[in-house]
This record gives sequence, C-alpha cells and structure tokens, in this order.
Amino acid sequence: MIWASVQDTMTGCSSYLVGDELTGQALVVDPLHSKTAAHYVLMAQDLGLSIAYVVDTHTHADHESAARELSEAAQATLALSHRAPVHFAYAPLKEGDRFHLGSVEVEVWEMPGHTPDSLCLVLRDLDRGGEPWLVMTGDVLFVGDVGRPDLGESSEAAVKEAARAQFRSLDRLMELPDYVEVYPAHFGASHCGGLYMSRKYCSTIGYERRYNTLLQARDPDRFVAEQLKFLKPPPENARKVRALNLGAAGSS
Ligand SMILES: [Fe+2]
Repeated sequence: MIWASVQDTMTGCSSYLVGDELTGQALVVDPLHSKTAAHYVLMAQDLGLSIAYVVDTHTHADHESAARELSEAAQATLALSHRAPVHFAYAPLKEGDRFHLGSVEVEVWEMPGHTPDSLCLVLRDLDRGGEPWLVMTGDVLFVGDVGRPDLGESSEAAVKEAARAQFRSLDRLMELPDYVEVYPAHFGASHCGGLYMSRKYCSTIGYERRYNTLLQARDPDRFVAEQLKFLKPPPENARKVRALNLGAAGSS
C-alpha cells in the first residue's frame, strides 16, 4: 500500500491518497480545492500511480472540494454516498460496498450524523492480512473530538436527531480493534468539530476510545447534551460553500 496525505493548515483540512504498487491505481479522498486538482495528479505521478477513484466522505460545508474537478482531470470515477444530494453524476456508494486497488481493499461504511451522507472508509492491505489496517473517518471521528451535528440542520429537533445518529455511528466505529489507525478529514481549529479537536492529524481507535472526551459519554442522552453544550459558531460562508460542493445552479 502506498499512503500519502495532504493538509491545508489554514483551514484544518486533510485529504489522502492511497495506491497500490503493482497495479499503479490510486484513490484520492476529500481532495481540497485550495491545493488544486493538479497537485493531486502530479503527486500521483511522482509516486508512479494514476488516480482511478475520487471519493468525498460527505458534502463539505466548510471548504470547497476538488473532487469533481479532479475526477475530470484524472478521468477517474467520482464516487460519493448514494445519499449525496448533489446535482451532478457520480457512482453511488452504499453500506458494505467494497472496491479494490490491487491488494488494497476499501470498504464503505455509511455513518450518518455530521451529515446524512457521511461515510467512513475502512482499508485492508490483503497482501499483509485480512484485518482492517486503517479507517478514514471523514467528519465522524476526529483526534480528540467528533463531527458537529448542526451544519446541515436548521431546527433544534433535527440537530438533536443528527447528534443521536452521530452517537450510533461512533458506537459502530468503536467496534474496530484498538490498533486500527484513524485518519480524519480535519484537525486543529476546523469548523467541523468542537472544542476538543487536536492539532494532530491522526490517531488510533484505541487511543480515541480511551481519551476522546465525547466518546466517554456512553449514554446517547448524555452524548447529545455534551455535544450541544459547546457548539462553535458555524463557518461564515457555510451555505455558499455547501451550494458550490453540491453543484447547485448559479453557485459557481
Ligand atoms: Fe464536514
């Protein structure tokens, strides 16, 4: 497995490139418009890879995605949750779907909460073993924190319901073994998490299970109350950014 990450330290966004040495195929997850589509194409070329798949873990509201632009530039398959409410064509991903880059297996978990279309991608390197090696958690789980439930919701009841969904998704994530590495879509002062978000880019399921503040609330009511207690203000231009990422008419 070939692994690389690209961070934007201004916005606290992370994106990832995963490849397979033998087939030369690569997957890019959550590419950032601020880094440009060309950056990912050149990075793949430098690693001897060509981009076969581009996936966004969810409809981002805090930064502009380069997924559509990159999939066109690389002639790669653009794959999103089948729940993504976008206005352009894509390959729909559903719970339990698996696709392969040579020996790298990517398994799709539907993990609603932060948004209804949130996904986690569980990776195995079948050359080395059948157990999960790492999980790209999107905005479900961060280092020290979890994804906020309010960016796409307008009523208090809908935000609470999204927080409950987030609790169930995190509960499921905690079924993974301790050693599994965690690679979130954000770090630091990103708008998509809360007060406890670390500036560190990655972690493990075991460390988060023990020390992530919100994961210590093992009761859904307590979790919802804790999560809603200290919500940050939403990103200033969330509505406009979300419309851009949805490909809504007149947004670009
Ligand atoms: Fe997000």
